[in-house]
Amino acid sequence: MDGSLEQRLPVSFPEWEFRARAVLPDGPFGYIAGGAGAEDTIRMNSEAFRNWRLQPRFLRDVSKRDKRVTLLGETYPAPVLLAPISIQGIAHPTAELASARAAAGLGVPFILSTVSSKPLEEVAAVMGKAPRWFQLFWPSDPDVAASLVRRAEAAGYSAIVVTVDLPLYGWRERDVRNAYNPFLAGEGIANFVTDPAFRSKLKKPPEEDWKAAIALFGSMFFHPSLTWEDLPILRRYTRLPILLKGILHPRDAELALQNNVDGIIVSNHGGRQVDGEVAALDALLDVLDIVRGRIPVLMDSGIRGGSDVIKAISVGASAILFGRPYIYGLAVAGEMGVRRVIQNLLTDLDLTMANCGMRSIAEMNRSFLIRR
Ligand code: FNR
Repeated sequence: MDGSLEQRLPVSFPEWEFRARAVLPDGPFGYIAGGAGAEDTIRMNSEAFRNWRLQPRFLRDVSKRDKRVTLLGETYPAPVLLAPISIQGIAHPTAELASARAAAGLGVPFILSTVSSKPLEEVAAVMGKAPRWFQLFWPSDPDVAASLVRRAEAAGYSAIVVTVDLPLYGWRERDVRNAYNPFLAGEGIANFVTDPAFRSKLKKPPEEDWKAAIALFGSMFFHPSLTWEDLPILRRYTRLPILLKGILHPRDAELALQNNVDGIIVSNHGGRQVDGEVAALDALLDVLDIVRGRIPVLMDSGIRGGSDVIKAISVGASAILFGRPYIYGLAVAGEMGVRRVIQNLLTDLDLTMANCGMRSIAEMNRSFLIRR
């Protein structure tokens, strides 16, 4: 893509979404954009941000802004991470390699999904020493679960994000309408077919019997019987910090603390799991009341611009994740698109910080907010 095309990349989220719609077939676009049921949760995620209003302060010398944040002992350039997004190959052939490279170039942590289009080692290889976390959908087969976590640790991922809000798929009407299930076509199983424990359970290698590999994956991907009692097992697999992603209820926040997890990500999976559930930003308040600063509490679901980041952090989040915006960037322009989306968010964050009278992330607090 030449410079002039780079100039013409979209800026706003609706523009990126519109352009992604134009380049993607119905199935992949619906999978990425869609949510559970009538998609009320997606709308509420945005609405929740609008309900908090920023109340800037002035004459505070904002000529220097420090956006850095320290999480789990590591310092990152901004309180912003790329959310784990499955099967990025449906958005662009370069898939997670492009997103990971773009993130690495800016030092922004990339969270790789369990169900990626590229194996976790290949993704790590394009990132050098840049920060990366691994998201675990805990498979029901314990050997494969242990193996995935150990491989991630060996490949330099520095935290394990256990996603707890997907005991089964949400009722996603766009996918139903499009009869779209990429996993049935063997998309997103790269980490499984390259896994020694997984391969040892197949009669023939996946290269010779792809259908059997897909069936085996299908038999272990969902793990609806998982409970809090299983969590300690994970500690036996890894020494990495463990975060739980998808916590919304204060009682679950209590249980997370009792189980000594290292962090919580408040999220409703971008509205993809339960129609009509609480907006992530609203649930964040309840979770923070329970956690009271003992462990980092991150959030995602609905972050679209710099002021959303500032609102989430001012409410009390330690950092945010964002998902669909960078996947639209990937769909529209590969690595360059992802880079542009991240850069725009960071620049918007920087300018909006200055214009709110904030010089650092630590300075953000509820005194800058009014709730409508
Ligand atoms: C997701 N999300 C997700 N979460 C996770 O833990 N593992 C995964 O593999 C995926 N896959 C995935 C695919 C797609 C297409 C989307 C849109 C989302 C959820 C994701 O990590 C994050 O919670 C939301 O995307 C955040 O909401 P926004 O920023 O998309 O509104």
